[in-house]
Amino acid sequence: MDAIDFLQAQHRAVEKAFIALKADDDDLEAKAALAQRACEELSIHTMPEEELLYPAAREAWPGSETIDVEKAYTEHFLVKTLIAKFETLKAGDKGFDATFKVMSEMVGHHVEEEEKELFPELRKSNCNLRGLGEKMEKRKAELQSKLDAVGSKSVG
Ligand SMILES: [Fe+2]
Repeated sequence: MDAIDFLQAQHRAVEKAFIALKADDDDLEAKAALAQRACEELSIHTMPEEELLYPAAREAWPGSETIDVEKAYTEHFLVKTLIAKFETLKAGDKGFDATFKVMSEMVGHHVEEEEKELFPELRKSNCNLRGLGEKMEKRKAELQSKLDAVGSKSVG
């Protein structure tokens, strides 16, 4: 899997979590679990992308205005701010649904831009996407095991 296949697969996982959350309206417990999963999927996605792909994109087109990596960073920043809100926001709370809606709209827009602009351009560049993909998979595994450790602590 190269870096772009890897990221696109993650985008689909995030979308699935969003769709599941929209469908499940009454069961607050299920809703909370789904929101947590969506936030985890998003965190696992944003970190390797920011740490590995965006710097590579910056290097591929220094100072480019067509491929605006700074905008992508800013959108990630906003998504992370919304993720942080879910640390205190509970399913059923005022604002929970609205926050989730805004988050899902923002992520949808961001994903669309990346897949239409950034990714196709990166494919044309001489960026080592295979090498990047391998590094991302390693980073993802690290983040996943950290999250699992936190999860088992809070359960047990
Ligand atoms: Fe992204």
